Amino acid sequence: MNLQGKRVVIIGGSSGIGLATAKAAVSAGAKVIIAGRSVQKLKQAQVEIGGDVEISSLDLLHEDAVKMFFAAVGIIDYLVIPGSSVKTGAFRELETSDAQKSMDSKFWGAYLAAKYAQIHDQGSIVLFSGTLSHRPSPGYAVISAINAAVEALGRALALELAPVRVNVVSPGVVATPVYEGMSQEQREAFFQNTASKLPVKRIGIPEDIAATVLYLMNNGFTTGTVIGVDGGGLLI
Ligand SMILES: NC(=O)c1ccc[n+]([C@@H]2O[C@H](COP(=O)([O-])OP(=O)(O)OC[C@H]3O[C@@H](n4cnc5c(N)ncnc54)[C@H](OP(=O)(O)O)[C@@H]3O)[C@@H](O)[C@H]2O)c1
Repeated sequence: MNLQGKRVVIIGGSSGIGLATAKAAVSAGAKVIIAGRSVQKLKQAQVEIGGDVEISSLDLLHEDAVKMFFAAVGIIDYLVIPGSSVKTGAFRELETSDAQKSMDSKFWGAYLAAKYAQIHDQGSIVLFSGTLSHRPSPGYAVISAINAAVEALGRALALELAPVRVNVVSPGVVATPVYEGMSQEQREAFFQNTASKLPVKRIGIPEDIAATVLYLMNNGFTTGTVIGVDGGGLLI
């Protein structure tokens, strides 16, 4: 894939899926800006990525900051928004304020980034949902609702922001730092258990998702879609 001369902004590019996407985009020749809250994580990622990558501290929860960030960045070709932090928990036990903060981060964060980014007519936006939108699981109700909202937003923006293309990637379980809240033992058991049930007999790696994001950047005839990259997780 050739992204020579293209400008890519990845909000949440310092970790997991965003970091793998940044590496893939830089390898394809793009000029990449990664953004996130922690400057330390951004600096580490910058070293890990190497090549043509700039870093910028940004919290998607703050509308003014998002607006200023995109005004300073100017016109870009591609916007990728894996950045979010969410809290999960049993429906009656999760604090309502935590559920709302999760929505603020993953839904409203993506909404604000898409709203203020200035994207070239031939460019595109990639949003992130997750299989929980179609395959809910107890303890994750708010994430199911957020993912469904992101998917609906993606379809609506594919019309309203056209000719800019807007697509959503829906990952299954992917080994990223998002699971660092679990103990190593819990995490390994969860990954193994998930892998054993999936048709592909493994969980995802960030590069699986990054390859899909690059496909969506390059394919000028794909818009308004939700692409599942989940090892067949919706079939079981
Ligand atoms: N991994 C999975 O199994 C999985 C499954 C389904 C869906 N997904 C979705 O895929 C996307 C990427 O997930 P991941 O696993 O790669 O997550 P991750 O490793 O936790 O990375 C999240 C990234 O977002 C940044 N971020 C968090 N809150 C932010 C905010 N308010 N403003 C700006 N940046 C923020 C983080 O950096 P800072 O903390 O420094 O801000 C980090 O760079 C997410 O939307 C996630 O819900 C993942």
